[in-house]
Amino acid sequence: MTRHFLSLRDLSRQELLQLINRATELKSMLRRGVDYEPMRNQTLAMMFEKSSTRTRLSFEVAATQFGGNAIFMSPGDSQMGRGEPIADTARVMSSMVDIIVLRTFSHSTIEEMANFSAVPVINGLSDRFHPCQLLADIQTFHEARGSIQGKTVTWIGDGNNMCHSWINASQLLDFTLNIATPAGYTPAADLVNNSQNVYLSNDPLEAATNADLIMTDTWASMGQENEKNSRAHDFKDFKVTMKIMERGQSDCVFMHCLPAYREMEVETQVIDGQQSLIWQQAENRLHAQKALIEFLLLN
Ligand code: CP
Ligand code: NVA
Repeated sequence: MTRHFLSLRDLSRQELLQLINRATELKSMLRRGVDYEPMRNQTLAMMFEKSSTRTRLSFEVAATQFGGNAIFMSPGDSQMGRGEPIADTARVMSSMVDIIVLRTFSHSTIEEMANFSAVPVINGLSDRFHPCQLLADIQTFHEARGSIQGKTVTWIGDGNNMCHSWINASQLLDFTLNIATPAGYTPAADLVNNSQNVYLSNDPLEAATNADLIMTDTWASMGQENEKNSRAHDFKDFKVTMKIMERGQSDCVFMHCLPAYREMEVETQVIDGQQSLIWQQAENRLHAQKALIEFLLLN
């Protein structure tokens, strides 16, 4: 049966942990100059409805380092943008390539692609989830602070696709997730209601208390550009500041999936400070996705 990666819940806890360990192993192999080309003669295709720097770059480099090829497409330069059905696109793409990465607005587009694809489909971000980012995030936390199980993680800002993926992670890996959002920006109720370790509040200082990890994301995600001003107003008390970081544990770390807007969702002193892991986190996209590709192609 073809395995897809549409959300973290497509993996068992054990598979997720194995994948993260493997990511760190692949990182070390790369550093040591070990040649490893499990994708020889294989092709990864990306179809992106939205902009990307890290996701596109990391998948293309992953395919190159694995001895394979990567092809980038967008609806604007393919027939998908002219209304060719997703199901038809999926059948054609998967008859030629070995793995597909999709970045879309509606999560149902990715589900439909997976339903009709003969090869693994990876969610490279939808309005609902961003699971590839979570692989890198967990890997980064494990490298810096050890196992995330039993720890306290704080999300401050929008209850968005990243926040949703952190809710999934908290269920799989069993840590406490405190989420502080302004009223009206809470994460999807169906995800929260099915979660035991998730605590919602409207108070960032309270949510950050004793945190091992504090995170945020842009206040206006892709597709919400016309809400930028109203969101800047609604989120003004939800900036991650040094004062908030000080509420965490003494070895509390800061993460942000990037792109970041300094002095909007996060103070410069925090994101460019000693507690920040953002560059390691961004680099780990490459290693974590190599582990994911290997898992989906070879397992
Ligand atoms: N974090 C992330 O997915 O970045 P890009 O939008 O640049 O791919
Ligand atoms: N929440 C952001 C994440 C970008 C990587 C967005 O969807 O635009």
